[in-house]
Amino acid sequence: MNAEEQKLSYFKTEPIPDHILERMAECKKKGMIVPDETLIKRPSQIEGIREASRINTGVLDEVASRIQVGMTTQDIDDIVVEYTHAHNAICAPYKFEGFPKSVCTSVNNEVCHGIPAKHRKLHEGDIINVDATTIFNSYYGDASRMFMMGAVSDKRRKLVEETKKCLEIGLAAAQPWNTVGDIGAAIVKYAHSKGYSVVRELGGHGVGVDFHEDPFVAHDAKAHTGMVLVPGMVITIEPMINAGRAAVVIDPYNGWTIYTRDNSDSAQWEHTILITETGNEILSY
Ligand code: MF3
Ligand code: CO
Ligand code: CO
Repeated sequence: MNAEEQKLSYFKTEPIPDHILERMAECKKKGMIVPDETLIKRPSQIEGIREASRINTGVLDEVASRIQVGMTTQDIDDIVVEYTHAHNAICAPYKFEGFPKSVCTSVNNEVCHGIPAKHRKLHEGDIINVDATTIFNSYYGDASRMFMMGAVSDKRRKLVEETKKCLEIGLAAAQPWNTVGDIGAAIVKYAHSKGYSVVRELGGHGVGVDFHEDPFVAHDAKAHTGMVLVPGMVITIEPMINAGRAAVVIDPYNGWTIYTRDNSDSAQWEHTILITETGNEILSY
């Protein structure tokens, strides 16, 4: 049996339960968008994703214990590589579509996809997002956290804390048989109530067997729109929240780093979650 056949064999030995297939059929009849059966993970796949996700959480715990003022973002990359390899795992970002480093480090007005560099020192007052994705046994876990360097302004602290709240509000909306749009609707409502804006160009995603799978998880969306959340789906929620306007620009030199167009600060938190029959389970944080 080759790797491809093995992948498909799960679908015979671990079929989707009948009561879930029936409920999916009802949703489809109502005109809702239902996921392809390949997006509904089976127990053995969930175990693999859980394992990769656990290592990925360990990566961020390791960064949390060692990050400090005066380090460079390259030092963060070194920590991530060392920890990941010590756990016989792979840093998914490395060489992903040409990305040159092993983790994303996005400081202050950088929204995401910041590239670690020896010349980028972390100063007192900076806020930084560290976004790690780990491959273990060919399964993926993806998460990111914010870190506040020393004493940061109240404005920045509040942005970091309220962005975490946005993720938590998104998690609460990520209930089985809700839709993906319910997540973004809850997030954007809260973010706007705090005077923040929500980045639209990038979002969460299905994850687990691949780095980025369907569905796209918009963080600014309308309730009751988009794909139905079916138990067994694994997705990320990763709101990017700006202190100023929502518009972003891409770095014209490296082709990766996303900045706020108005240079305002931006924050992001990301979890990988499993949709279950009763709610969701956080796999990586
Ligand atoms: N980890 C990011 C995400 O949350 C993706 C980074 S892609 C990279 O989806 F190439 F920049 F690493
Ligand atoms: Co990520
Ligand atoms: Co992600």
